[in-house]
Amino acid sequence: MKPIVHGIFDLATWTVTYVVYDQAGGSCAIIDSVLDYDPKSGRTSTESADKVIAFVNEQQLSVAWILETHAHADHLTAAPYLKEHLGGQTAIGDHITAVQRVFKGVFNLEPGFKADGTQFDHLLQEGETFAIGQLTAKALYVPGHTPACVAYQVGDAVFVGDTLFMPDVGSARCDFPGGDAKTLYASARKILSLPDKTRLFMCHDYPPEGRDVCFETTVAEQRAHNIHLHDGIDEAEFVRMRTARDATLAMPVLILPAVQVNIRAGEFPPKDDNGVSYLKIPLNAL
Ligand SMILES: [Fe+2]
Repeated sequence: MKPIVHGIFDLATWTVTYVVYDQAGGSCAIIDSVLDYDPKSGRTSTESADKVIAFVNEQQLSVAWILETHAHADHLTAAPYLKEHLGGQTAIGDHITAVQRVFKGVFNLEPGFKADGTQFDHLLQEGETFAIGQLTAKALYVPGHTPACVAYQVGDAVFVGDTLFMPDVGSARCDFPGGDAKTLYASARKILSLPDKTRLFMCHDYPPEGRDVCFETTVAEQRAHNIHLHDGIDEAEFVRMRTARDATLAMPVLILPAVQVNIRAGEFPPKDDNGVSYLKIPLNAL
């Protein structure tokens, strides 16, 4: 059975949230949802997540899974809100514990914060398969952008997370804690070794001037045209390019709030004694 894929693009963070499902009236997984966050006021809102809920209801889908490809640094996940309204189990790659350990240190989180992944309903191992209604999905471990990234293979579709971007954009940065360009190269080749016609769905799109947003391509297109990773670019050349480029990139605007919330599977930090939840800004630490 060929999965049906619906992408919802968030203009504020350039993120694509996917609903992948077997049929109308059937089952779905939601991948990489967005909780809107205004850094100026510290306010969250659910406009983006409500679009996902509206689509799921319109197609009369039951939600089996709420998946993350990784702990995002550029947006907050809406997983808890979606779970509350739609049900489903939350899941992420099992190496999330490494990311939690690092950021527990960076943010000096409360002793009760466990870096064991138990904030998620399920941790997926490399190659683990799981059902989305009549579809079978598989977790592919694809580290490099972060040490815990996974891609999701569902039939002929692969949700690549932050590995490859569209061919004219290239690849994801590798300079976050635990990121590694050499590792990303291997992960990209793993995705590009899938059959040519495999449909690849990006986690983001940053369209160059003059091109509309798009987020679907194929293995064949990537192997022929990806500006960072087309066939013929070897590991050394990629690592050189990626490292030089990463050195020029500023931190994402939302990295500090996003990581603090996303390593908790989207929950906010425990409230202070005044009933308000706070995020921390570590000075001169990142
Ligand atoms: Fe990312």
